[in-house]
Amino acid sequence: MTAPDSALLQACRARRERVLAHLRAAGGGVAVLPTAPEVMRNRDSDFPYRHDSYFYYLSAFTEPEAVLVLLAGPAAGQDRSILFCRPKHEEREIWDGYRYGPEAAREAFGFDEAFSIEEIDTRMPQLLANQPMLSYPLAASAEIDRRVRRWLDGVRTQGRAGVTAPGAAQDIRKLLDEMRLIKDAGELALMRRAGEISASAHVRAMQASRAGLREYHLEAELLYEFRRHGAQSVAYNSIVAAGPNACVLHYRAGPAELRDGDLCLIDAGCELDGYAADITRTFPVSGRFSAPQRELYDIVLAAQQAAIAQTRAGVPYNVPHDEAVRVLAQGMLDTGLLDRNKEGSVDDVIASGSYRRFYMHRTGHWLGMDVHDVGEYRVPGPAPAEGERPWRPLEPGMVVTVEPGIYVRPAEDVPEHYWHIGIRIEDDAVVTNAECELLTRGVPVVADEIEAMMRERGAGR
Ligand code: GLY
Ligand code: MN
Ligand code: MN
Repeated sequence: MTAPDSALLQACRARRERVLAHLRAAGGGVAVLPTAPEVMRNRDSDFPYRHDSYFYYLSAFTEPEAVLVLLAGPAAGQDRSILFCRPKHEEREIWDGYRYGPEAAREAFGFDEAFSIEEIDTRMPQLLANQPMLSYPLAASAEIDRRVRRWLDGVRTQGRAGVTAPGAAQDIRKLLDEMRLIKDAGELALMRRAGEISASAHVRAMQASRAGLREYHLEAELLYEFRRHGAQSVAYNSIVAAGPNACVLHYRAGPAELRDGDLCLIDAGCELDGYAADITRTFPVSGRFSAPQRELYDIVLAAQQAAIAQTRAGVPYNVPHDEAVRVLAQGMLDTGLLDRNKEGSVDDVIASGSYRRFYMHRTGHWLGMDVHDVGEYRVPGPAPAEGERPWRPLEPGMVVTVEPGIYVRPAEDVPEHYWHIGIRIEDDAVVTNAECELLTRGVPVVADEIEAMMRERGAGR
């Protein structure tokens, strides 16, 4: 059993203290955070286990069947951090592997107390007694809500002994989302490494590309590279989309053949120690872009560059997207994807939204432990009396993706040489006070550089 990283444990402790200070400031109370359940894939076979991101953020503990309980005391020194986890079990450990058990977990992870998960239903009513507020992932799952109700019933049965149950509940995720949105140095170091590994996987897949292979062959190259470098998992299901499949936004790697003359779009990233990378590259199967492919590719790349230039502290979250849309819309008019005579100017195209026929998603999202990471995109707080809350200004330590695209389905009013072309270019960026830091440029993005790299392996046939 490898010991948990001491810097990570220190960070988790500091995060727990922050949550506790927040609870205390709100009048005290208890926070309860369960990890994710194990999920059966099919008879006797589980999906690979993945802890809950919030739980891990505060605990660094990766075993299933665990619950973290934080009790705010009247002063910081009187706070309690309690872990409930699986008890030691000689026979189960022979089958499934090592379990810390409460005693070793408390010691190794630095909790104040730890108990067997089997005791949680008897202990929680005591821990919740006379507490003003319960914070937990409110209505996140029927199972959690059921357990909370059982515990609260347990407190209420002590009513005649003068015990009161919490009178209010709040969603602990609101606070944690805000905390998770700004990454600390340890998180950024992991995300840098996840970005590097994922970039090298894209390089490997591009260099392996040749006509006659199937999409799943390139998926295998990606997986090989992820695991070879110690990534535990993919951060999301890899998209490897040959030719027309690139126009299906949530396509998976399938059995379609890679053909000379077609593009291949790969959207794939690994998860390393709980943190995601998210990269898309689009490249010619044979190693050379055709003229129409290149034309659209350069528009998408220019859109990405425009968005990246606006990805910096103080700029509202929507601005990179709006910049990308402007470049894409202009490109659609220039290439005749959109008919100038019918559509008018680029401002008209933006106002009418007609660009959405070829670009139907947003240009980025928060990235972190979850690929579509948590955090509000608008300024938190109540909505103004009129209109929506303003878009949130970017801050140093936020991580976003920048991922414009163009997807052309066949239609009579669309020039035929663009049919079936689907292009997306996606990189991961850390917001700083100056230019953003791109985490994923270990894989080339400029068309000439992609072609040169593919030639290196003799793929440009
Ligand atoms: N791979 C998921 C996304 O790009 O949003
Ligand atoms: Mn993405
Ligand atoms: Mn992606």
